[in-house]
Amino acid sequence: MNDRKTAVVTGASSGLGRAMARKFRSEGFYVVAVSRKAPEDGVCDLHIPADLTEENSLAAAAAEILKLERVDVFINNAGIGAYAKWDELKEQELRRLMELDFFAPVLLTTKVLPLLRKSKACVVNISSAAGLLPVACMGAYSAAKAALRMFSDTLKTEERDIHVVTVFPGRISTGFGSRACGCREVPNTPSHGSETPEELAKRVYKACMKKKRSLIYPWWYKIVIGIMLRMPGIYEKGSRKVWKI
Ligand SMILES: NC(=O)c1ccc[n+]([C@@H]2O[C@H](COP(=O)([O-])OP(=O)(O)OC[C@H]3O[C@@H](n4cnc5c(N)ncnc54)[C@H](OP(=O)(O)O)[C@@H]3O)[C@@H](O)[C@H]2O)c1
Repeated sequence: MNDRKTAVVTGASSGLGRAMARKFRSEGFYVVAVSRKAPEDGVCDLHIPADLTEENSLAAAAAEILKLERVDVFINNAGIGAYAKWDELKEQELRRLMELDFFAPVLLTTKVLPLLRKSKACVVNISSAAGLLPVACMGAYSAAKAALRMFSDTLKTEERDIHVVTVFPGRISTGFGSRACGCREVPNTPSHGSETPEELAKRVYKACMKKKRSLIYPWWYKIVIGIMLRMPGIYEKGSRKVWKI
């Protein structure tokens, strides 16, 4: 019997997921990590090995989660990027990206919903700034993260007993780009660089505790995205230049 508050984090073996797992653990949560590789020592209390792009592996992970007494926070974080124009992206890459970035969070969440309802859980979906603003040469990623946002926002309305937070991170250094698929190099755009996984983790924790609906990090992305959406012609021209299209 575990009467500690419990947080489940997918993709806690690196980057943002690892930082969020550490933050919730430091706040006294029993942390369950779901990923292919085992997280390093101190990140979680329990590791459920799973490849969330595989139907059977995802179902087995859901079955393990349903054995827990409670889930207070459920973070859909595991994800992958893709840098390619639509006609450059291989079908297999597109399917893998949609499996991990969209189908996996939807299927895993819905499979464990009875426990989330019973626990009055807070579900956190890690979308992306690219889910708010169309990013050329990351079109598939933008589409998957926009779809995840819609999942998140509609789940919020459908489920009275759970709280849902949608998170839109901007660029944060984690090595995410080097693990992405697609044939293009990440362009050498100026990096602001002061954002960290640890700071995002603190804000996600606060957003759960304060029952916020959404979180954009860093905050000024809200302004940049607003401007870009109002000036589509200039934004498209700039994007073509950056991506050498
Ligand atoms: N970093 C950024 O700038 C940024 C910006 C906006 C949004 N995001 C989003 O934030 C989330 C985390 O990104 P990150 O930067 O922390 O990336 P990351 O360091 O590459 O971490 C990705 C995590 O996903 C897990 N994962 C990958 N494939 C998996 C699979 N098939 N099954 C289960 N788990 C899998 C990885 O674990 P294993 O390899 O052990 O399976 C890893 O723990 C992603 O959803 C990403 O789209 C990131």
